[in-house]
Amino acid sequence: MISEETIRNLIVQAITARRNSYSPYSHYQVGAALLAEDGQIILGCNIENAAYTPTNCAERTAFFKAVSEGIRSFQAIAVVGSPAGEEITQFAYPCGVCRQVMMEFCNPAEFQIIAAKSQDEYVCMTLDQFLPNGFGPDNLDTSGSQEG
Ligand code: THU
Repeated sequence: MISEETIRNLIVQAITARRNSYSPYSHYQVGAALLAEDGQIILGCNIENAAYTPTNCAERTAFFKAVSEGIRSFQAIAVVGSPAGEEITQFAYPCGVCRQVMMEFCNPAEFQIIAAKSQDEYVCMTLDQFLPNGFGPDNLDTSGSQEG
């Protein structure tokens, strides 16, 4: 389990990451702070695009930054999202696509997702609570199967 102090630090860093949100179309700003197994913290923000579909969520920005640097083991992610402005008025839960990306690299029973409004107001749940019965790399592991 991660400590209260670690959770609070991740939330502060996600709030910082949100300042870099590039969201001229939705004006919805998201920041994420991803805690790697070794303690490194990788930040991400949402990055929108005039063609809309190339938009990348904050969570995936953080994951793809990490994986592209060779980091593949993770403990937790804090996410903050709210319409443009300093005040964070709602909990932003990761979208389905981001949950699936988490499923690729994280143990669903252990990986913690922290959705926060502030350091004092947050919800912390595991990936399998967000994505029950998720499809992941283990499904494609045919090493023990007769049909493999
Ligand atoms: N967004 C995220 O960054 N993370 C989520 O989990 C949900 C949505 C972004 C994508 C888009 O830039 C904006 O929020 C509105 O959908």
